[in-house]
Amino acid sequence: MLQMASGIGRLSLESAFAVLGRAAELEAEGRDVINLGIGQPDFKTPEHVVEAAVQALRDGHHGYTAAEGIPALREAVSADLARRLGLEVDPGQVLIVPGGKMTIGFAVLMFAEPGAEILYPDPGFPIYRSMIDYSGAKAVPIPHTEANAFAFSAEEVLARITPKTRLIILNSPSNPTGGVTPKAEMDKLAAGLLEHPQVAVLSDEIYSQMLYDGAAHVSLLSYPELRERVILLDGWSKTYAMTGWRLGYGVWPEALIERARCLAVNFHSCVNASAQYAGIAALTGPQEPVRQMVAAFEERRGVTVAALNELPGVSCLMPGGAFYAFPNITGTGWSDKDLQKALLEEAGVALIAGRDFGALGEGFLRVSYANSRENIRLAVARMAEFLASHR
Ligand SMILES: Cc1ncc(COP(=O)(O)O)c(C=O)c1O
Repeated sequence: MLQMASGIGRLSLESAFAVLGRAAELEAEGRDVINLGIGQPDFKTPEHVVEAAVQALRDGHHGYTAAEGIPALREAVSADLARRLGLEVDPGQVLIVPGGKMTIGFAVLMFAEPGAEILYPDPGFPIYRSMIDYSGAKAVPIPHTEANAFAFSAEEVLARITPKTRLIILNSPSNPTGGVTPKAEMDKLAAGLLEHPQVAVLSDEIYSQMLYDGAAHVSLLSYPELRERVILLDGWSKTYAMTGWRLGYGVWPEALIERARCLAVNFHSCVNASAQYAGIAALTGPQEPVRQMVAAFEERRGVTVAALNELPGVSCLMPGGAFYAFPNITGTGWSDKDLQKALLEEAGVALIAGRDFGALGEGFLRVSYANSRENIRLAVARMAEFLASHR
């Protein structure tokens, strides 16, 4: 009998990938499925970014790079943070990794172990909880409720800190809810954290450029009093439609960067060299493709929320960011999981049950509106027909 380590059994999967797989199976059987399940832009990576990767391969960038990433890319990240958010970041504190996810894993590995407590968003990106469970630390949910527009409040976070708390994971704009924590709450949180100097924060800001109604992003890294303990997670996947390239970065406090680099050496050595050159082109080239994509998402957000609110028993808040709507479906009489399954199998609409993002997501669905307006309208029309015929 093989004897696996106990933590391995506690890792969980992301249901977005399971739904993607099932949708592909149905399509292979000839069924027509509209995918509002997976969290990725339906845009192509901008052409000049693709060209930069091709050129890098032609130029012979085929080997390992420095584990932390090529210097020009780390400098480009630093310049981008200065341009967008007015932040001053030493390129030496930037760690290039294969996708945003890696920074989550590294932060949890750095702080979590049995006896420690880690705070994480509920509902939230499932990998937070999975990695905390793997580590054996206690996972303490921070509620993101409909009553609070699905964002975290400073009070809810601060109230959960104990002497055992080592790391707080925060995510604004949020996956799966699209909730955005306003600056006033961030200010309160930063002030409150001064009383807990032993606590580190992983701020997942991967949707930082997907904000609507003219809102400006508030980075937790912009609070000088927290600089020594905030790990910033961002990357290229969402902003530049580069999910399959596997490219992301973390900005680590000076005291942690060397250990983070050590994790990188142990796990992946370095990121694919040509993808890193693509990353430079994305950050230093024209930003118009990003603006166009975000403008398209903003328009689709309106279409999606209006259409969902027409469905009987469904109510949906207007999300402030990311590309997800999180409708409350309790009035339909369906459970979120049953409705997710039935909509995929019977109506050809792929979306994700709220509970797959945490216990507090029960009664909601995550609807990704990274799809064409026509498909969104058709998907909601299919939902309407389905609900009407299953009363
Ligand atoms: C909140 C959040 N963080 C991190 C990630 C991971 O991004 P990547 O695909 O770059 O690993 C995602 C992807 O869906 C996400 O939604």
